[in-house]
Amino acid sequence: MKKNKKTALITGANRGIGKTIAKTLIKQGIQIIGTSTTEDGVEKINNYSKKNGFGIILNLKNTDSIIETMKEIYKKQYSIDILINNAGIKKDNLLIKMTKTEWEDVIQINLSSVFYLVKSVIGSMIRKRQGRIITIGSIIANIGNKGQVNYSASKSGLIGLHKSLALEVASKGITVNIISPGFINTNFTNTLSFKQYQKYLSNIPVKRTGYKEEIAHAVIFLTSNKASYITGHTLHINGGMYMM
Ligand SMILES: NC(=O)c1ccc[n+]([C@@H]2O[C@H](COP(=O)([O-])OP(=O)(O)OC[C@H]3O[C@@H](n4cnc5c(N)ncnc54)[C@H](OP(=O)(O)O)[C@@H]3O)[C@@H](O)[C@H]2O)c1
Repeated sequence: MKKNKKTALITGANRGIGKTIAKTLIKQGIQIIGTSTTEDGVEKINNYSKKNGFGIILNLKNTDSIIETMKEIYKKQYSIDILINNAGIKKDNLLIKMTKTEWEDVIQINLSSVFYLVKSVIGSMIRKRQGRIITIGSIIANIGNKGQVNYSASKSGLIGLHKSLALEVASKGITVNIISPGFINTNFTNTLSFKQYQKYLSNIPVKRTGYKEEIAHAVIFLTSNKASYITGHTLHINGGMYMM
């Protein structure tokens, strides 16, 4: 790791989409700081990033620890050029049965944590007059889903946050965008039964689920200079399942 090399912070970089994004960024010559909630996850990040990054423990459920962890990163003189808000959870239930904890955990981890993470990096990005903020949203923000009022609210809340922030920092060289996946093969989706899986598949015009790499490539594009005129945008990657 070098103090003056372009650095990306990726939440939830130990597995799934976050890991693929982190590995793809490394291939592009960008060093990474990846987060996980566990020591085991941190070790996985250290193993794949080698000299091009490291893992840190971060549980987005705890706002104070988000603020403290970010202060630690800046104390070590790493400044974040690219923030990838990837970590996310779902705790599904019909609204009538949904508990306060199921609602609050999903809103905190998927939405409120993004506010605190962005707040921690934006000052430094403004001073440098450059930065990229990319957040992984979801198709469910736009189409809704039974049993996911919490998840859907958290992901559509991100759209308003990103559009408003994009306006606030557009003149400072910072772009703020969402990548909104449809159905991507990860642990997040492999809990579905065969019947549920087939039902989802029947709604995807390209007739397959998405690959993590298809999300990572879009991230690379949005971090590049080629995308410097794109801000406040939600990029849908869903095989035609939802079109704006
Ligand atoms: N897969 C899909 O089809 C799909 C579709 C639409 C949107 N998305 C979105 O894509 C993002 C990544 O999803 P994925 O499919 O890669 O999920 P995944 O395989 O379940 O991975 C989730 C990641 O989030 C982290 N995480 C969970 N709880 C956390 C917490 N309290 N604090 C910090 N990190 C936490 C996990 O870290 P630990 O393992 O260390 O806990 C893990 O790295 C999510 O935002 C999800 O909503 C996914």
